Amino acid sequence: MALESRENIRGYRMKAIVFSQYGSADELRLEEVSKPVPGDNEVLVKVHAASVNAADWRMMRADPFLVRLYAGLLRPKKIKTLGADIAGVVEKVGSNIKQFQVGDAVFGDVFASNFGGFAEYKCALENELALKPPNVSFEAASAVPLASMAALHALRDVGQIREGQSVLINGASGGVGTFAIQLAKYFGAEVTAVCSSKKVEQARSLGADHVIDYTQQDFIRRGTQYDLIIAVNGFHSIFDYRRALSPQGRYAMVGGGVGQLFQALLLGPWLSLTGGRKMLAVSSKPNQKDLLFLKELLEIGKINPVIDKRYPLNEVPDAIRYVEAGHASGKVVITVA
Ligand SMILES: NC(=O)c1ccc[n+]([C@@H]2O[C@H](COP(=O)([O-])OP(=O)(O)OC[C@H]3O[C@@H](n4cnc5c(N)ncnc54)[C@H](OP(=O)(O)O)[C@@H]3O)[C@@H](O)[C@H]2O)c1
Repeated sequence: MALESRENIRGYRMKAIVFSQYGSADELRLEEVSKPVPGDNEVLVKVHAASVNAADWRMMRADPFLVRLYAGLLRPKKIKTLGADIAGVVEKVGSNIKQFQVGDAVFGDVFASNFGGFAEYKCALENELALKPPNVSFEAASAVPLASMAALHALRDVGQIREGQSVLINGASGGVGTFAIQLAKYFGAEVTAVCSSKKVEQARSLGADHVIDYTQQDFIRRGTQYDLIIAVNGFHSIFDYRRALSPQGRYAMVGGGVGQLFQALLLGPWLSLTGGRKMLAVSSKPNQKDLLFLKELLEIGKINPVIDKRYPLNEVPDAIRYVEAGHASGKVVITVA
């Protein structure tokens, strides 16, 4: 085959981690697939780095079951490749794109355009992206969007955080929790972080005023009440959390077990009817306005992603296994380009 036509074929193909049935990370395969072509409202990004979120293994396993209503009942029809957070360089733009041009370094959360970050290229919608701050690496930028936005929505929107409030973050050492500590400090709160012994120093270095090692002490039994509780990981019943809330306090359930989710969704509204305490589930939806706000905080060093491990694209299954085991310190990044 002539050199030129071989180059042409190469130009239309890319490597991606392909996801064709629900199950364990053993189902994921590195394959050569068609390179996506941007539509009029899309930007083609050459992915330099992506990061892993709990959303990836939840989608991979269809956990909770409701995931199937979104992605496909028997198999994942809508989503071919996992990976919500990306950072890379714009390679092509659709005819309606106003905010970006070829060569721009960008980052963002492509959850709404059906994931696809664990690949060499991804077509994203314009409003899923922001310009990457020049002083931040692709790896660090890819670690930010989904987890920091979930933390922001929990603290600011559901939690209605105010300066001087006491905030407890349960599950303070993973992707969402490490951003939650930094953002709660940014909003002027007094922060108590709950994590295991190995992560105590990390929580302090991110700004936590107090740290409770959950292997030594149960924060519920201490009898302290907080103005705001962010439940990111670990399990306590909603009634335990209610006892640890001050009379006008708010509880924002981000994640943890499925039981925790259903308690917040089904019992939270009832428990919020009487008295001043409010108990709500967080459903974080990515949006560009908040991405730009987080980008500014990243640029001026008010938030710094904690990166635990880096894996190459072909080792995405191992990266997902590691995150799914539930004890990552901050974020796990995939280096693509
Ligand atoms: N509601 C939303 O819109 C939304 C958005 C994003 C994420 N989420 C959910 O939020 C949850 C957390 O996400 P993530 O990205 O932070 O996950 P992650 O990075 O996998 O969380 C790992 C961290 O959880 C900590 N942890 C595990 N067991 C714990 C326990 N019993 N008590 C306290 N901490 C514990 C671990 O710390 P140790 O090693 O110290 O135990 C580890 O550092 C997931 O369930 C995810 O699905 C929800």
